[in-house]
Amino acid sequence: MEFLNSIIQGDCRQVLQTFPSLSVDLVVTDPPYLVNYRDRSGRTVKNDGGETGILSAFSDMYRVLKPNSICVSFYGWNRADEFFKAWREAGFRPVAHIVWKKDYTSKAAFVQYRHEQAYVLAKGNPQLPAKPIEDVQPWAYSGNRAHPTEKAVSILQPIIRSFSRPGAIVLDPFSGSGSTAVAAALCGRSYVGVELEADYCAHARTRLAGAAKYAVRKPT
Ligand SMILES: C[S@@+](CC[C@H](N)C(=O)[O-])C[C@H]1O[C@@H](n2cnc3c(N)ncnc32)[C@H](O)[C@@H]1O
Repeated sequence: MEFLNSIIQGDCRQVLQTFPSLSVDLVVTDPPYLVNYRDRSGRTVKNDGGETGILSAFSDMYRVLKPNSICVSFYGWNRADEFFKAWREAGFRPVAHIVWKKDYTSKAAFVQYRHEQAYVLAKGNPQLPAKPIEDVQPWAYSGNRAHPTEKAVSILQPIIRSFSRPGAIVLDPFSGSGSTAVAAALCGRSYVGVELEADYCAHARTRLAGAAKYAVRKPT
């Protein structure tokens, strides 16, 4: 695959259309939660408003995934209806749900917000993992230095190990600061990241310069 072990700048809805069908082993992605997020210093996330247009990218994620494979997608709990609609329209079947438990409160409203969440979505009938991970996982705070919603590499590695084999190609079409790609490289997988914002792409490439030596360049 031409884009193996690279971070591509662009809108994933267009970029993914240039990828061949049935070419990716695993998708792990953290799309905008569609919640108008703004952190304490005023940083926001592109395409995180009310519009659900970016969710159409799941159709191409489904197309580029190999048969009988997995997509793990974080999502905003209060936009679950829209995420579910997009996943089902794309062809995905929810097969598990993962919660990461935080040991701090990120926001308080009706309750204290102390978790993040992702669905495990199947294309076809993937093999069960030899040793399934627990569906409640410990959260690790990334520090959000490079990106307002940066995921810690350490929370992504167990997912990548569980749902792919060494040498697999892992795609993140909303790659932000490149956490999924770094985690994939550190797990001995190949990666492809797509990100709209040039600054985040540059940051991801810098991070990957240190981690890329672990990535498999020619998957078998
Ligand atoms: C929730 S953040 C991902 C953060 C990432 N997991 C990390 O650890 O840094 C979602 C990212 O999707 C990007 N984005 C939004 N719309 C996009 C699009 N149409 N194509 C590609 N990237 C997009 C945003 O710029 C943002 O960096």
